[in-house]
Amino acid sequence: MTAGLDPVKLMKQEVGRAAASQVQSGTIVGLGTGSTTAFAIQFLGERLKSGDLKDIKGVPTSFQASVLAKQYGIPLTTLDEIETIHIAIDGADEVDPNKNLIKGGGAAHTREKIVDSLAEQFIVVVDSSKLVDRLGTTFPLPLEVLPLAISPVMKAVEQLGGQPELRMAIKKDGPVITDQGNMILDVKFEAIDNPAELEKILNNIPGVLDNGLFVGVADQILVGEVKDGQATVREF
Ligand code: 5RP
Repeated sequence: MTAGLDPVKLMKQEVGRAAASQVQSGTIVGLGTGSTTAFAIQFLGERLKSGDLKDIKGVPTSFQASVLAKQYGIPLTTLDEIETIHIAIDGADEVDPNKNLIKGGGAAHTREKIVDSLAEQFIVVVDSSKLVDRLGTTFPLPLEVLPLAISPVMKAVEQLGGQPELRMAIKKDGPVITDQGNMILDVKFEAIDNPAELEKILNNIPGVLDNGLFVGVADQILVGEVKDGQATVREF
């Protein structure tokens, strides 16, 4: 019975479980970042513990992912040690009808893009609130920026029609500092009509490490929904 539980948490849990169930023994797995992927990492750990899954190695996309992997007994590896990533599981902040994404709600999009793009199969795990007709409508676009370049990058982004805001930390005074030691600008655009073009334009601004547009990277989108108090998962 699922009645009484937070429906969003339920959706995240079930979609994380569904993605983790696709991982096969003997594979290298990209481990994404965020609250939905955290459930997938947990279920991978449970499958390893029960013996249902054997001999996997994870490539973490953040400190959060490596901490969780260690907690749930998933051995880790690095991009230097492997030839391929068979499957990656990661969340998203927005998903458009073409399976393009905005990511970076956890300030981890730079490493996430590296790992997710290298994967033979990239599974995106989201709840239904993340589906949008057009990217940028519900979530600002995150940019990871070298600290010394924050001011010029803000000006360059404004010239492109964006409204940048420095992401501030919670439970720490001052800005969010990424796992790479950089800062995040969250940029509100009126509309993102051409994500592929905007991704390139933004990454061409000196000082921008990467932005949260993931264009043509996702292979499969798993969407968690709650109907009549029951969590279901469908493929988008
Ligand atoms: C982190 C991300 C996350 O995957 C994204 O923010 C979704 O997180 P959640 O599953 O907690 O909603 O891109 O940088």
